[in-house]
Amino acid sequence: MQKILITGAAGQLGIELINALIPVYGAENILATDINPDAASKFSDTNFLSVNAMDADYLDKIVNEYKIDQVYHLAAILSANGEQNPLATWEVNMKSLLIVLELARKYKLKVFWPSSIAVFGRGTQRQNTPQNPGTIPNTVYGISKQAGEQWCNYYAEKFNVDVRSIRYPGLISYSSPPGGGTTDYAVDIFHKAVCNQNYECFLSEETRLPMMYMPDAVRATLELMQSDFKKIKTRTSYNISGISFTPAELFREIKKHLPEFQISYRPDFRQNIANTWPESIDDSIARIEWGWKPKYDLSKMTLNMLKNINKKRNRQGSSNLLISIL
Ligand code: SER
Repeated sequence: MQKILITGAAGQLGIELINALIPVYGAENILATDINPDAASKFSDTNFLSVNAMDADYLDKIVNEYKIDQVYHLAAILSANGEQNPLATWEVNMKSLLIVLELARKYKLKVFWPSSIAVFGRGTQRQNTPQNPGTIPNTVYGISKQAGEQWCNYYAEKFNVDVRSIRYPGLISYSSPPGGGTTDYAVDIFHKAVCNQNYECFLSEETRLPMMYMPDAVRATLELMQSDFKKIKTRTSYNISGISFTPAELFREIKKHLPEFQISYRPDFRQNIANTWPESIDDSIARIEWGWKPKYDLSKMTLNMLKNINKKRNRQGSSNLLISIL
């Protein structure tokens, strides 16, 4: 059985990805790592180690000792948080990736590394953004993902490293919170709605961005990683598309289930980031090469989010929703 190491395991994607990896590979074959030692409590089923992904010697020791075959290298600083400290963000995002790619070369590891719609930027076609447009990212996060994609491709071409990557849109999930991105509003809004509170959105009402419901994102990741080696011809990173919507459209969809819900808009610095990102994504290459296809649309995702957040609150004894559909 393959042994799998995950860095940044306590982040929004890591927690959900590990839940999907356990039934495939077995909890005993999964080693979750995160810089935060307190994250151990989130991983009662799998092995856990507190690891700084910039500690090359320690990672080397772990890969060796645990006989790791695959690495999901998720540790990174996201777009909005990254702007607060650009040089540290570059250091974390790039240094850790190069360490993982070097380990992959040395130990013949298979690697998954997340890229992002943040690689796009000024000058990029914003509707149906193609796989390889010209792009000038306007966040340090975007620059690090753009450079990282080139490094992945370089290691694949020069050293035959089997590295695979997806440019995630904004990820929406009910069980794990997002970690300082520009698309976080699309998660925050649900929590306010279910708590019967109004929501103040940090993006303007007509800001259309590509998003994806977490079950689709996790499935895309596993499908890409399980695809036949020969099918994976794109070694920078794949465009994948889920749902594109504006805050106003999401608000109207939530309001169908919670008619009292109200929203107001107060755009902040994240608006400038969103303004340079695509509105929708052309993912035809991923569809052709490894058969990608999303399952969730806006209404299905919204209902599923509301139901599950409400269920969680019910379990905690704090739900006061009276809506029968939920
Ligand atoms: N959700 C991410 C962000 O906002 C995009 O990759 O930074």
